[in-house]
Amino acid sequence: MRLTAEHICLALSPRAARFYQQADSTNEIALEWLREDALTGSVVVADEQLKGRGRKGRTWHTPPGVALAVSVILHPLPETLNRVSMLGALAICELVENLGISNVGIKWPNDVQINGRKVSGVLPENEWDGDKLVGVVLGMGLNVRVDFAGSELENTAINVESALGKPVDRLELLVKLLAGVDKWNALLDSVALYDAWKNRLTTIGQTVTVNSADAIVQGVAEGVDEQGALLVRDKEGVLHRVIAGDIALG
Ligand code: BTN
Repeated sequence: MRLTAEHICLALSPRAARFYQQADSTNEIALEWLREDALTGSVVVADEQLKGRGRKGRTWHTPPGVALAVSVILHPLPETLNRVSMLGALAICELVENLGISNVGIKWPNDVQINGRKVSGVLPENEWDGDKLVGVVLGMGLNVRVDFAGSELENTAINVESALGKPVDRLELLVKLLAGVDKWNALLDSVALYDAWKNRLTTIGQTVTVNSADAIVQGVAEGVDEQGALLVRDKEGVLHRVIAGDIALG
């Protein structure tokens, strides 16, 4: 079904929702809304993004009619900020798995993969007023039927419909995704959320190369800590704590 403002506002009622057929970035719009005092759970959805934001300043591709581009406004306590991306990845994992798709996992820190191929990316962006946390925008992009054939992502990305072998309704997916976000948001500071995220990480036990802001670390990913940092032991036996970065296997 085509996404329209009418369908979305009706399906998501009483949640505050803004829908755009075309937007630069739902995160950008949601950050503006957050500054204007949007309530927790308010959501921005776009059918197409022209400048979708990805991690580390990259662009996230959202062609029209074939994806979900969603940004949810949340107001976590500052000490639970690092849980927000876990929440997003978990909500997406459960959404995809509940469709009947198997081999769904999280590549650290929050790429959701099916059979080792990326189906979704999560980008939280925080808004501060001095040292006071105003809130967070949790951006989630899901490839529903994005066609990667012939693109540089052909072998590393996947979409939900090809994994499932049948069409899915994006509006139904959106409703279920937001229910998952609400569920995990209520459990943001819980051990349950941390454990659920940790148990879905496919990276643990693998030999990895991590490209972080200050170093390249190669070794075995031994685990994570409660802040979400990856613990990598190099071949000299030194344990590195990586807070953010890109990982490649091997
Ligand atoms: C990643 O690089 O893996 C994160 C991608 C996050 C993309 C989503 S799409 C909806 C929201 N709006 C954006 O501009 N980015 C996020």
